[in-house]
Amino acid sequence: MTERFITSTLNRRDAVKETTLRPPTFAEFPGQHRVKEQLELFVRAAKERDEALDHILLCGPPGLGKTTLAYIIANERGTNLKSSSGPAIEKPGDLAGLLTSLEEGDILFIDEIHRLSAAVEEYLYSAMEDFFIDIMLEQGAGARSVRLTVPRFTLIGATTRQGMISAPLRARFGLNMRLDYYDTESLVSIISRSAGILGVELENKGAKEIASRCRGTPRIANNLLRRARDYAQVKADSIITGTVAADALEMLQIDRDGLDEMDLRILEVIIKNFRGGPVGLKNIAVSLGEDEDSLEDVYEPFLIQQGYLTRTSRGRVATPKAWSKLGLSSATASDLF
Ligand SMILES: Nc1ncnc2c1ncn2[C@@H]1O[C@H](COP(=O)(O)OP(=O)(O)O)[C@@H](O)[C@H]1O
Ligand SMILES: [Mg+2]
Repeated sequence: MTERFITSTLNRRDAVKETTLRPPTFAEFPGQHRVKEQLELFVRAAKERDEALDHILLCGPPGLGKTTLAYIIANERGTNLKSSSGPAIEKPGDLAGLLTSLEEGDILFIDEIHRLSAAVEEYLYSAMEDFFIDIMLEQGAGARSVRLTVPRFTLIGATTRQGMISAPLRARFGLNMRLDYYDTESLVSIISRSAGILGVELENKGAKEIASRCRGTPRIANNLLRRARDYAQVKADSIITGTVAADALEMLQIDRDGLDEMDLRILEVIIKNFRGGPVGLKNIAVSLGEDEDSLEDVYEPFLIQQGYLTRTSRGRVATPKAWSKLGLSSATASDLF
């Protein structure tokens, strides 16, 4: 899957820093107040009763803190966390191996859980509900199965695609939480905290500039902070002021509303090639030479949330806001075609 150019410039050193930037506790995790409040209560109640947590599903676009929250939950509950992902668990046997390696009360984190195969998912049901799995030993007439009991574990699933989680799987989660894009205030505290950890000098105006142009996404905010640091180091006494941040973002081709080159190309294709829509995602993807998944997971949710795009049963439609973003008016569209 192609990633946004911002995340793809993450080098290995940055990847290590991403871990160090993860807040370890709820108290250090700004934003997502509703989600945080519920999770905190949930963890505390389980802790007081000394029970394993019920299974939790975390949904939302990439970079909003799903993995971070899973680790916070484990940390606050005081349990181990084992991490895997949907595509990595290829066969029921892989799942059996993972489950039997757990200890009582452990958390199993499965990222991209919507990408589990149907066969593996079937096995997960009995494990989540009744804490056993029946493994088939032989095929055909001599088929036998062996029942393995698994410890009372907690599954935390993360997904960018709530719609792709099957109903039976979804029903087995006790808590289903949806993360949303962050407000500017929370982003300013995230960016300031990261600057402190990275030892970057950052003025409040610089933090605000980055916060308002990072698509409401902490991962992007942290990446932009690093790029602004590079820029400040080379061009401006290493201090990220409002102007320095704005210049750095300009250089990265991120506009005042936080849209990057790809966002603008998407709007342009819908408007110029498809008269503003409705147009199917596949057609947009082909026109852009992009992959459908990343359009749907990464770009589209933000464009919809910001009111540039709407989804209809017949496809995607550019809103008047999108037209004016490109300096066009849908009313005078006939001039264009
Ligand atoms: N609320 C938050 N406060 C501080 N940093 C955050 C927050 N949410 C996410 N981050 C940062 O953003 C990065 C991406 O978060 P992550 O949990 O990996 O997102 P996801 O799993 O949803 O893609 C992490 O390195 C973390 O430092
Ligand atoms: Mg993640």
